Amino acid sequence: MADNKSLARAKNNKEDEFYTKITDIEKELKHYRGYFKGKTIFCNCDDPEYSNFWRYFQLNFYEFGLKKLISTHYKAGEQSYKMEIVATDHQQQIGIPDYVKTPLQGDGDFSSPECVEILKEADIIITNPPFSLFINYIELLIQYEKKFILIADTDKLHYKEIFPLLQNNKMWLGYNYGDMEFVVPSYYQPRETRYREENGVKYRSRGNICWITNLDIPKRHENLLLYKTYNEEEYPKYINFDAIEVRKYAEIPIDYYGLMGVPDSFLQRHNPEQFEIIGLAESDLGVSIGISANLTKEEMKALKAENPSFRRGNPIYRDRSGNLKKPYARVIIKRKVSDTE
Ligand SMILES: C[S@@+](CC[C@H](N)C(=O)[O-])C[C@H]1O[C@@H](n2cnc3c(N)ncnc32)[C@H](O)[C@@H]1O
Repeated sequence: MADNKSLARAKNNKEDEFYTKITDIEKELKHYRGYFKGKTIFCNCDDPEYSNFWRYFQLNFYEFGLKKLISTHYKAGEQSYKMEIVATDHQQQIGIPDYVKTPLQGDGDFSSPECVEILKEADIIITNPPFSLFINYIELLIQYEKKFILIADTDKLHYKEIFPLLQNNKMWLGYNYGDMEFVVPSYYQPRETRYREENGVKYRSRGNICWITNLDIPKRHENLLLYKTYNEEEYPKYINFDAIEVRKYAEIPIDYYGLMGVPDSFLQRHNPEQFEIIGLAESDLGVSIGISANLTKEEMKALKAENPSFRRGNPIYRDRSGNLKKPYARVIIKRKVSDTE
């Protein structure tokens, strides 16, 4: 749940304003349309007067056969509002449906009692929540056992509160992954990179963006097709954990059945029938699966000098020249062996 400290932090954090483009919304949500019929969709952390999530569902309200669409606007510390569209039997099921705009009692904070009441009523929560409050946001959805489709920053998936949800198949990655461009407010400062302006609108792109959901999608059942075989040279063993290093998830050896460390981009292709996620090789999560800093003082010194980012819980290996290497953000996985294999 959002505590007072983190909410206060977000209220002061102007870097939470990243508005999603309708093309990106369409590119992802087209895969879930079978879930929308007869459902109440809630887009919180939004501004329905400008939001493309609202626009997308308002325009397609009849097409999807929605029961209800609700969106709440967040206006830190001030009274805010919600907008709603409700399906009625006598309505002509064509065109763009009318909405009702009503004031909220509070500022539209997603964890406020009135917004939680709407959340409880909703079938599916769909939004791009504030990046700074992602953990609190997910915890709320899990607490109320909600179905969701959300935009997330992949770095947040490494948090000890979040990663176990992926590991235990409580949520998974959606279809789109990587760079995404967002509209930002006019008061955001221009940047040298990942920034552009067009017709007076400011855009910023962020890397490592993904969609996460707990709605079942066909992609989650597609096996990754593998084309490499194991050999000791290409796949060195970690010196502090009984697993091999795999540099790219596409290069997972087809004939290796022990533990493997793969880049976290693997998560976008994970099929729980093909692989089991054992854990994340980072800090406490890494330590909890037995990754130790099993090194002499000299080795530790050499490693830190070469890789200042080395932390406990990280796996390490020696490259072909004998140098110690710490790979970035490894997920530890294991092949599942089916009866027919
Ligand atoms: C990443 S932006 C996305 C906005 C919109 N959902 C979209 O995709 O275009 C996250 C939004 O969450 C809002 N926000 C920040 N803290 C919030 C809170 N405690 N409760 C609800 N919304 C919040 C921010 O003001 C911001 O507009």
